[in-house]
Amino acid sequence: MTKPILLQIGNVTERMKNRFDALFDVHVWFDQQDQDAFVDAHGADVVGIATDGHWGVPDNLLARLPNLKVVSSYGVGYDAIDADDAAARGILVSHTPNVLNDEVADTAIMLWLSTSRRLVQAEKWARTGQWEREGAFQLTRSVQNRQVGILGMGRIGETIAKRAIGFDATIHYHSRTPKDFDFIYHRTVKELAAAVDVLFVITPGGASTYHLVNDEVMNALGAEGMLINVARGSVVDETALIAALQDGRLGSAGLDVFEKEPKIPDALKAMENVVLLPHVGSASVETRQAMGDLTCENLERYMQDGTVVTPVPECADLNGT
Ligand code: NAP
Ligand code: 8YV
Repeated sequence: MTKPILLQIGNVTERMKNRFDALFDVHVWFDQQDQDAFVDAHGADVVGIATDGHWGVPDNLLARLPNLKVVSSYGVGYDAIDADDAAARGILVSHTPNVLNDEVADTAIMLWLSTSRRLVQAEKWARTGQWEREGAFQLTRSVQNRQVGILGMGRIGETIAKRAIGFDATIHYHSRTPKDFDFIYHRTVKELAAAVDVLFVITPGGASTYHLVNDEVMNALGAEGMLINVARGSVVDETALIAALQDGRLGSAGLDVFEKEPKIPDALKAMENVVLLPHVGSASVETRQAMGDLTCENLERYMQDGTVVTPVPECADLNGT
């Protein structure tokens, strides 16, 4: 019996590949010499897409796959997929929420601690013998008892807040709607930034959050303020960020995500008050395995009963109809 076609966009682990192979005839998008010719020849037979938060689904591809039913994305952020268009076409899109909350929150806290306590420079001081030659490393700023801001009080934002409370932080936040928490709500991002020492950015990416953290917000955060971005590069105006750091209008930054990944501007690489990570928020063996398993489960469940375990909100009404 012929298996339905799954189009795989981006890399997958061996474990995921084996589960895909059990159900589907898998075609790898980036192995196609001529992607247009592939779509012309097989587009009508593609039933599923497996992708990730980075690659999403290329523009206009949904329109060329008339029998596509399900898209399973590895990652919680799905700004690289036009989920409204998919829903309008009756295509169920799923993602991997919750299984990565702890890892991403840990990464955010790691960036906060590393940036405040100058971990990278201190380690270099020890490793290169500067301690022996020049004496004690400079004093750094404490993370205790801080006013901590969370921009995007969702699943991961709440998990960051819980960890920050362990450092005796007072938690402030902004989301479009106030949540049922005992934290301090601010109506605007600028108000939030003005009230805190460190601002964690953890909203989704996409048009609605594009450059939400702009020049005004960075000025409000101030010369002693710190910006931690573990959301999407698009949420922070990177040009404005570089200027604010260079002028000393913003104190420091810890960044896991960038506007044009994997490119990081040289200006940021040259700054000592910035800690840079290569988008590794969820990148532990355990968490990536859990994300991979959920990506597979969504496809398997679809093939069983036409539903997915974790639909994106835009497609929730399609699940089970
Ligand atoms: P979530 O539970 O949906 O939370 C998102 C929060 O952002 C919600 O509180 C939402 O509240 C708020 N929000 C949405 N649009 C907003 C806007 N325009 N202005 C202000 N607040 C807004 O999502 P999550 O699971 O916590 O994940 C959040 C994001 O983290 C993902 O979408 C992804 O982009 C990013 N992420 C990054 C990594 C990494 O490796 N660095 C890993 C995982 C996730 P309202 O709807 O009330 O505004
Ligand atoms: C992944 C992420 O690195 O879940 C997300 O939104 O940004 C990360 O966990 C990414 O989705 C994999 O491409």
